[in-house]
Amino acid sequence: MMWHITLAAAASSVLAGISLTAAHPQATPALPTQNETLVSPFDLSQVQLTSSRWMENQNRTLSYLKFIDVSRMLYVFRQNHKLPTQGAAKNGGWDAPDFPFRGHFQGHLLTAWAQCWQTTGDAVCKHRALSFVTELATCQANNAAAGWNKGYLNAFSENDFTLMEQGKLSSGVPYYVIHKTMAGLLDVWLALNSSTAKTVLLELGGWVDARTAKLSTEQMQRVLGTEHGGMVAVLADVYFATGDKKWLTVAQRFEHQAVINPLANSQDQLNGLHANTQIPKWIGALRQFKATGAAKYKTIASNAWNMVVGAHTYAIGSNSQAEHFKPPNAIAQYLKNDAGESCNTYNMLKLTRELWTLDPANVGLADYYERALLNQMLGQQNPTDAHGHVTYFHSLQPGARRGVGPAWGGGTWSTDYDSFWCCQGTGTETHTKFADSIYFHDESALYINLFTPSTLNWSQRGVIVTQSTAFPVSDTSTVKLSANNGGSSNWDFTMKIRIPGWAVGAAVTVNGQGITGVKSGSYASISRTWAVGDTVTINLPMTFRLLRANDNKSLAAIAYGPTVLVGNYGNTAVAEAPQLKLDSLKRTSNTVLAFSGTAGDKNASLQPYYDGQGINYVTYWLVQGSLPA
Ligand SMILES: *[C@@H]1O[C@H](CO)[C@@H](O)[C@H](O)[C@H]1NC(C)=O
Ligand SMILES: *[C@@H]1O[C@H](CO)[C@@H](O)[C@H](O)[C@H]1NC(C)=O
Ligand SMILES: *[C@@H]1O[C@H](CO)[C@@H](O)[C@H](O)[C@H]1NC(C)=O
Ligand SMILES: *[C@@H]1O[C@H](CO)[C@@H](O)[C@H](O)[C@H]1NC(C)=O
Ligand SMILES: *[C@@H]1O[C@H](CO)[C@@H](O)[C@H](O)[C@H]1NC(C)=O
Ligand SMILES: *[C@@H]1O[C@H](CO)[C@@H](O)[C@H](O)[C@H]1NC(C)=O
Repeated sequence: MMWHITLAAAASSVLAGISLTAAHPQATPALPTQNETLVSPFDLSQVQLTSSRWMENQNRTLSYLKFIDVSRMLYVFRQNHKLPTQGAAKNGGWDAPDFPFRGHFQGHLLTAWAQCWQTTGDAVCKHRALSFVTELATCQANNAAAGWNKGYLNAFSENDFTLMEQGKLSSGVPYYVIHKTMAGLLDVWLALNSSTAKTVLLELGGWVDARTAKLSTEQMQRVLGTEHGGMVAVLADVYFATGDKKWLTVAQRFEHQAVINPLANSQDQLNGLHANTQIPKWIGALRQFKATGAAKYKTIASNAWNMVVGAHTYAIGSNSQAEHFKPPNAIAQYLKNDAGESCNTYNMLKLTRELWTLDPANVGLADYYERALLNQMLGQQNPTDAHGHVTYFHSLQPGARRGVGPAWGGGTWSTDYDSFWCCQGTGTETHTKFADSIYFHDESALYINLFTPSTLNWSQRGVIVTQSTAFPVSDTSTVKLSANNGGSSNWDFTMKIRIPGWAVGAAVTVNGQGITGVKSGSYASISRTWAVGDTVTINLPMTFRLLRANDNKSLAAIAYGPTVLVGNYGNTAVAEAPQLKLDSLKRTSNTVLAFSGTAGDKNASLQPYYDGQGINYVTYWLVQGSLPA
């Protein structure tokens, strides 16, 4: 077991710019420091996926969320708060009663149930979210009898905090679990207007405040040596949700100087650090920037993003090997079975999304978002499993087989009750929020960032935006406008469409008329008075692309447009990267993403990485020659 080096994290999925109207009855509290000039996401309840590979993944995760035995999930909380466990079976894996990450998964469940409710209106998810919060409130209310202080809520003894403050805690991640719980409670509060979730959250936050207020800066920095997830981020989010500045003070106590100071000074000192312990700290810095406007926080986050994406990232958008960052640009020697922890990318996506809202002309940020989401995250799930189980790592070793690996738990698919890894937790969130970053808006513009079949109810404007596409199998997406509730109207706004850096010769038409100024790596901008029935067609021609290892230019992955391809080796073992003749590559179907090429003098077939389950595959090749013209 390697749990001491293992982790995950999550900031709340709630962004400052959340909008106020929703398809399902709910009330998102007004956020005090919302800056109207900034780009904001839509509330998840305003965007619905329509039939696609994305929705298939979402459906499988939703079935797990509605299946999972809630009383089992309460076991470690009830036990720690000295309540009867009501005959529930104990979980295995990371939720086993003696496991040092026990209790972390429950916060992810709260978030995922809230997202399920928002995006599908599913009453089972709503009921589960609300009743689970009620049970957590009961645990918290038993603190006096349990011997814990007011507000405490965790699956660990409060004594573990004393040990941690003294630098003597030998295992366990008590603040990591508190972060997950707070983030889940906040999401249920905001998505379902649950006053119980709000009360439990603020009581627990009050406990965190009381516990940390007593510590010297030095003691607190010692506490931060133990993995603590997104404590800064969630406390900043509590500030956004309440308007109470006290929470920013508490958030500030969790700033981990040893990690953020080098980043503020533009120094890449990531080598050797546990990757996913750090990424939530950068999300926290960005939340603090949004709350305070202090420039150093934005510098920390954007430096971290540039370093990770530029010098520590593999073709599919993943980073790390054996959960750790390596020296800058060291890629080739780390294409291993335990490369690319899923949680890291879940967190990099949050970081990217937040950075992009501050810099919405930056297509590079949104291009990374697409790359990591389409390749790694969509491919994380086992499509043959009705519960949508996921993988922890993303092997890049020649002949890798997803979900079947030599490594402990991480190499295999997750299970119903015996895994509960960090990446299974973040996976329940990822696969229920594919709708959250397709569209954004500001005062005057609608942004289309992703080409995902979906419907946006832009209720603030009374317009319904329907996007139809088989992207990335097809290179064309069609966006059609209609009026909410059958009305008819005209709307003045600018439509800004991401023209990805990979697109060559892109074209956009409005009602069949081509528009000018369409350039890859920029936003195509259309300002007009829009009317019911207006149709925008976006054509993004795809070509083969080489994604070379930074440190070995003859080792490369192949992409077709946004899609990273893998060689399908069936059940054949592959010992080393095959030599691929680049000029032999060709697409062999117009209806699916299927390709052929000559590799090691044999005919190889290639397909999307995201569909590379149940086969031995090759992601990085020893490339020869040049791509077909
Ligand atoms: C769009 O959202 C508004 C506000 O929540 C709602 O009244 C309306 O029915 C929704 N329209 C559709 C087509 O879902
Ligand atoms: C949200 O909850 C509060 C208090 O529980 C209640 O006063 C308010 O009416 C609710 N809002 C909506 C839209 O349901
Ligand atoms: C809002 O954001 C814009 C753009 O970043 C900035 O110029 C402006 O000062 C911000 N306003 C407030 C009140 O923070
Ligand atoms: C997902 O599930 C919904 C509800 O059961 C169903 O209507 C839809 O067809 C499913 N879509 C896909 C792509 O599986
Ligand atoms: C690049 O990787 C290949 C395959 O592992 C290896 O044969 C070659 O020596 C490497 N080249 C360099 C410059 O490291
Ligand atoms: C390789 O196989 C594909 C189908 O798997 C086929 O379309 C292609 O023509 C083959 N190429 C050669 C050179 O045999």
